[in-house]
Amino acid sequence: MPTGAGPQLDTSSLVLRPLAAGDEHELLRIHRMPEVLRWWDAPDPGFPFADEPESTRLTVELAGAIAGLVQFYEEPTPKYRHAAVDVFLDPALHGRGLGTEVMRRVVRHLLDERGHHRITIDPAVANLAAIKAYERVGFQAVGVMRSYERDVDGTGWHDGLLMELIAESSSTPRRGRRSRG
Ligand SMILES: CC(C)(COP(=O)(O)OP(=O)(O)OC[C@H]1O[C@@H](n2cnc3c(N)ncnc32)[C@H](O)[C@@H]1OP(=O)(O)O)[C@@H](O)C(=O)NCCC(=O)NCCS
Repeated sequence: MPTGAGPQLDTSSLVLRPLAAGDEHELLRIHRMPEVLRWWDAPDPGFPFADEPESTRLTVELAGAIAGLVQFYEEPTPKYRHAAVDVFLDPALHGRGLGTEVMRRVVRHLLDERGHHRITIDPAVANLAAIKAYERVGFQAVGVMRSYERDVDGTGWHDGLLMELIAESSSTPRRGRRSRG
């Protein structure tokens, strides 16, 4: 069971805002918790500001407190333009609908504000909570990528699930589009 499983969280105060100086202490605390380490590995030197300059990072805040991080990478080659997302949240809040809502918001931003038509995410096949949250937002499994990434202890490899969300079939359609009759 997730650490914080309980009633669904009230997400009316949820904010995704640009990563800012001062966020590092809380984000490192969350990143180093076993429930996050299992899927994200140990933070790289320079986290959260310098370790992944190609990604845009947003701090997740709930009721004014830092609750996690969501990030996206935007493929710059025009022919293959798409965005790839990743996320972690404070284990105290897991399993109560927050991840689903965070993904819904970031997907909306990428479709509406950034003009993407395709978004991908690649959870480990064993990361059932992540897969469930992503499916609820409209991601669909493309297929299993075998021996895709290193285990957290570096000894072996495990499978990843490539998931994608295409704007036209998304459950979060672009704002302002007329529904088809
Ligand atoms: C993945 C993550 C962002 C999801 O956020 P969340 O707030 O826990 O997700 P939600 O509560 O919106 O949805 C998770 C669903 O999976 C379910 N779930 C949790 N653990 C599960 C398990 N072991 N097996 C099956 N389902 C599980 C939850 O009950 C919930 O479903 P429900 O609402 O029908 O009960 C969060 O768990 C997290 O930060 N995990 C650690 C880091 C991580 O895995 N990042 C993703 C890497 S791709």
